[in-house]
Amino acid sequence: MSSDPGTPSHFPVKMRPEILALPAYKQGSAAPTGFKLSSNENPFDPLPGVLEAVDAATRQLHRYPNAAAPEITARLAKEWGVETDEVIVAAGSVALLVQFALAAAGHGDEVVYSWRSFEVYPWMTVLPGATAVPVPNTPDHRHDLVAMAAAVTDRTRLVIVNSPNNPTSTIVTKAEFETFMGAVPDDLLVILDEAYAEFITDPDAVNGRELVRRYPNLVILRTFSKAYGLAGLRIGYGIGPAPILGAARTTIMPLSLTDHAQVAAIASLDRSAELQERVANIAARREVVWQALLEQGWDVPRPHGNFVWFPTGERTAEALEVFRAHDIIARAYLPDGVRLTIGEEESVENVLAAAEEIARLIG
Ligand SMILES: Cc1ncc(COP(=O)(O)O)c(C=O)c1O
Repeated sequence: MSSDPGTPSHFPVKMRPEILALPAYKQGSAAPTGFKLSSNENPFDPLPGVLEAVDAATRQLHRYPNAAAPEITARLAKEWGVETDEVIVAAGSVALLVQFALAAAGHGDEVVYSWRSFEVYPWMTVLPGATAVPVPNTPDHRHDLVAMAAAVTDRTRLVIVNSPNNPTSTIVTKAEFETFMGAVPDDLLVILDEAYAEFITDPDAVNGRELVRRYPNLVILRTFSKAYGLAGLRIGYGIGPAPILGAARTTIMPLSLTDHAQVAAIASLDRSAELQERVANIAARREVVWQALLEQGWDVPRPHGNFVWFPTGERTAEALEVFRAHDIIARAYLPDGVRLTIGEEESVENVLAAAEEIARLIG
């Protein structure tokens, strides 16, 4: 039994109470049958050339990976028109989020983000012992960037902006983001998490590509997990000022980025035409689903990622059950709503039948 006042008395060893109180990260449900639309994954197979590249890397499994990732780093630097020290690559953008939090925020420091947003933000804030400052979304499920800027204090060390926002699929506009960056101190780290950027079709949306080298305190995060369909391999990257990325390099989990992920990312970047085609396909399906939902009477915010948000509120658990009865595994965010990924074409009929039933049920 522990006698440490910070550790619960039933706990066998002394540990950090804030970690013991933290729920572990919960993945979207798997689907033994039906359509798994709970994790914002890509329904397409890996792009041509990816499996061959991964297969070749598998022959070197007895070796540690080259975690410095020189080839994919150089390739991304070229794609983004920056130097290699302005690129950071890691085993998923989640890993990068944790690295930046560890590098920037400690005990007594604050991390500001919009809420509801990506579940990792509160979790990654607690890890280094910092304090979360969630700022409620607007009634139309968007970031309230004015309130987020107002929430910044001299203890704030990191602000995260997520566009499109997971799980509400709403965007921040270019103009909103510019005003926000003008309102926060330029020695405060801002992360623009654009995990779903490739699915955006609205020209007014903020776009990290246009912001490269614009601000001394901005890091843009992207991932190969969503549009590129490499979720299972774990690779994401950041673009930003070299000194900030250098600090985040020191907090990496050593050797966690595999060679498989690196070669698969390069092979995927070689197939940009096919990627564009797939992304356009998913974006078009998203529009069809959204329009049909509006016709059913849903007040669903216009989706910009590869997912749709149903603001089902207190009826969320029931809504999830109806989706399940229609062979759709969705993701519930109690007590706010349901997030549903745009998946296989064959799933659309079931999604719309379930949505219609839920609309009738909850009026
Ligand atoms: C907003 C957001 N950022 C980052 C990620 C993480 O992506 P990765 O697979 O690169 O860790 C996700 C994944 O769900 C996400 O929704």
